[in-house]
Amino acid sequence: MTIAEPEKKKSLYTTMIVLTVVVLVVFLTCMPYLVTIAFAEGPAEQSAADASPIFGVTIPAGYKRWELIAPAEEAAPLDELRAVVGNHTAIDAYQAGKLPFPDGTILVKRAWKRKQSPEFASATIPGAATTVQVMVKDSRKYAATGGWGFGRFINGKPVDEAQHRTCFACHEARAKSRDYVFTRLAP
Ligand code: HEC
Repeated sequence: MTIAEPEKKKSLYTTMIVLTVVVLVVFLTCMPYLVTIAFAEGPAEQSAADASPIFGVTIPAGYKRWELIAPAEEAAPLDELRAVVGNHTAIDAYQAGKLPFPDGTILVKRAWKRKQSPEFASATIPGAATTVQVMVKDSRKYAATGGWGFGRFINGKPVDEAQHRTCFACHEARAKSRDYVFTRLAP
């Protein structure tokens, strides 16, 4: 018993050292993946300069692959083609006819200058992108503006505070009964 004790201790130390090395190797191997995931999923890569004034809304990642809610057209002087798209929460709420929209709903209005098709004179196609406009539902954070946070972006950058002061007023004046949202699901 007394002879075996130091031997036992020695093997315990060896086991601990081996375990520490294994844990370190695993951790260092995973590190690049963890960093990639953190940057891909989090808003970490967006700086404060990319967020709208007043609301702090940013352009949501991947919105170009979101489902269409409805297209729209705007007459002169803007002369634009538009498409309102939404995240899963938005699409589910639309399909269920749910009002008000649940927290987590994000609506994005994409817009382009109207352009004549080079191949077919009577066809109109999207020209240069003009604005990207975002509405984010968070009923507590944006309680003062019907639960919606607003953001208008040109070339990826938010427009000034004065423009952001106009958003809720117009949406409230004309679309209050529909949770401040104009766009209906296209039939
Ligand atoms: C003068 C009225 C007016 C103002 C101001 C206004 N909007 Fe809108 N908004 C509309 C109308 C009308 C629609 C629906 C028709 C369309 O697609 O253009 C709309 C649609 C939207 C949509 C799609 C969801 C919906 O309600 O149909 C978003 C997102 C949006 N606006 C964001 C903004 C943001 C951000 C601002 C402020 C920077 C803003 N709006 C200011 C009138 C306005």
